[in-house]
Amino acid sequence: MVQTFSSEPGAIGVFDSGYGGLTILEEIRREMPQYDYIYVGDNARAPYGTRSFEVVYEFTRQAVLHLFAQGCQLVILACNTASAKALRTIQQTDLPKVAPDHRVLGVIRPTVEALGELTRTGHIGVLGTPGTIRSASYPMEINKMYPGFKVYGESCPMWVPLVENNEYNAPGADYFVKKYISSLLSRSSDIDTVVLGCTHYPLLLEKIKSVLPAGVFPLIQGELVARSLKDYLLRHPEMEMRCTKGGNCRYQTTEAVHKFSEAAALFLHEEVEAEHIILE
Ligand code: DGL
Repeated sequence: MVQTFSSEPGAIGVFDSGYGGLTILEEIRREMPQYDYIYVGDNARAPYGTRSFEVVYEFTRQAVLHLFAQGCQLVILACNTASAKALRTIQQTDLPKVAPDHRVLGVIRPTVEALGELTRTGHIGVLGTPGTIRSASYPMEINKMYPGFKVYGESCPMWVPLVENNEYNAPGADYFVKKYISSLLSRSSDIDTVVLGCTHYPLLLEKIKSVLPAGVFPLIQGELVARSLKDYLLRHPEMEMRCTKGGNCRYQTTEAVHKFSEAAALFLHEEVEAEHIILE
């Protein structure tokens, strides 16, 4: 059945499989506090990083339609795995059918755009979930924009569980931080920029920095995505007018609300009240 969605102004939707997207939301709200936001974390079905293309696409599609049904005109996939595995199909296949005047944007392109000004060697490391790395979305986007660059992807399957279980500051995390970074850097001594290609990874930033040699720059996404969204809204006044400006933010989770509120406090450094939702 074809669903139709209202074109009346609404909040900006921000979606992640779990908590990681809160690192993006925080920066977006810092840059543009005037808008209303609805954050959806599919915590009950996270992590997405080890799931198949079909499953990530279906879960992401459900979340986007849920946000549209709540009036969002614009949705940000604040998740690299969803951006890598679902964004293109949603943009090309779903939107034209169900909501041609709505927009869904991801986090990979704004990240890639920043690389040109950062790297001197053109050798880029990308750290991500197994799903993001296997999708090859980063090398594809990077090579489209910068054909001469060399890209080295390293999947870090233990990092999201370390963050989601609040173990990212523990000594045990050091082992896994060193393990993946050493493996990445062993593949080229020319790598000078390392993309933290997962929205959970900023929580490991201090440990990551302590392992990266001097001269290798860790690229985090929050600010880049926020600036790119601001720029997008400036270039698309017709969409900007359809984003309400009340300065509010609602949090929705597919998990138990108390679990979300506790964990979200780690990411946002403040208590938030969440609502329970069912995605299907
Ligand atoms: N936060 C997601 C990302 O940026 C990954 C978390 C997950 O595996 O669900 O890729």
